[in-house]
Amino acid sequence: MRTDHRAEPAEPAAGVPGHGATAVAHPNIALIKYWGKRDERLMIPYVDSLSMTLDVFPTTTTVRLDPAARADGVTLDGSPAEGEARRRVVDFLELLRERSGRSEPAVVDTRNSVPTGAGLASSASGFAALALAGAAAYGLDLDRTALSRLARRGSASASRSMFGGFAICHAGRGAGAAADLSSYAEPVPVPDFDPALVIVLVDTGAKAVSSRTAMRRTVETSPLYRAWATSSKADLAELRAALRRGDLDAVGEIAERNALGMHATMLAARPAVRYLSPATVAVLDGVLRLRSDGVSAYATMDAGPNVKVLCHRADAARVADAVRGAAPGCSVVTARRGPGARLQTEAGR
Ligand code: DP6
Repeated sequence: MRTDHRAEPAEPAAGVPGHGATAVAHPNIALIKYWGKRDERLMIPYVDSLSMTLDVFPTTTTVRLDPAARADGVTLDGSPAEGEARRRVVDFLELLRERSGRSEPAVVDTRNSVPTGAGLASSASGFAALALAGAAAYGLDLDRTALSRLARRGSASASRSMFGGFAICHAGRGAGAAADLSSYAEPVPVPDFDPALVIVLVDTGAKAVSSRTAMRRTVETSPLYRAWATSSKADLAELRAALRRGDLDAVGEIAERNALGMHATMLAARPAVRYLSPATVAVLDGVLRLRSDGVSAYATMDAGPNVKVLCHRADAARVADAVRGAAPGCSVVTARRGPGARLQTEAGR
């Protein structure tokens, strides 16, 4: 893994004829989680979610139209993408062609600075960058709201990475076109709330069960899913109020219970999906010890064993030391709120 997690990866190779654009996007970590789709084709979530976009682990994606090609070309970190990863990108390109009325194949080159598929939100930064670069390459003139809707079709969490800082993704209302229109992300402005998120990488290998498969199984079989989805609504309202007050303890408590509740729904799925490993639990114990020592530290976990610990910036070094002690051998990266997705020309290239 790269040592400078803030650096944007080397620019992908140029030289493909046709229209092209490069976009950079950062992952986001949800404090109120999205888990479960009510429409898998349109990628409409069951629940609203709220996240913080990070200033680490950017994804850089270039999309160039290649009229001479017979098929789309997709490379991920310099190697041809295969299987499910390739299919998701090609499906997204089909959507761009349908929307733009163009038919050219595209060459997509994606560089991640975060391990792909390890529950570190690489699909959020990946599809946010692909939506922005792809829309520009295919000549679609979309505002941020429309871009967040478009990114949602690639990966619902990607809609939130269109925005910097804190963002909410609305689950939307109704069905079909109405649901598509009403499910989008927007910023949640809390300029004075600027915490640290200490990311504990206990395992960066690809997960055994994709989040897509896991959330489908949870919705279909977990008796706990509906209860969590209902309590998540109350969590969101409370979290928004806590953010407005800049109350890190309240934000952390709500985020931690929301995440643990989401993992409980998966543990009750049939068969169970368990992303949390012994090292995850060791870090969670470390977080509890920090709290009993008076440090405001709260954990959240996504579709993988890695833990993200929310704390005050001034406590980040102490939190990082504590989690290293709790799970020896893990690496730790401290993030803060980061920028929304942008085209590289906008970034001042
Ligand atoms: C646990 O957005 O990766 O990270 O929409 O199927 O691509 P798809 O799933 P994805 O799921 C993210 C789930 C989560 C919680 C969250 O980020 O809100």
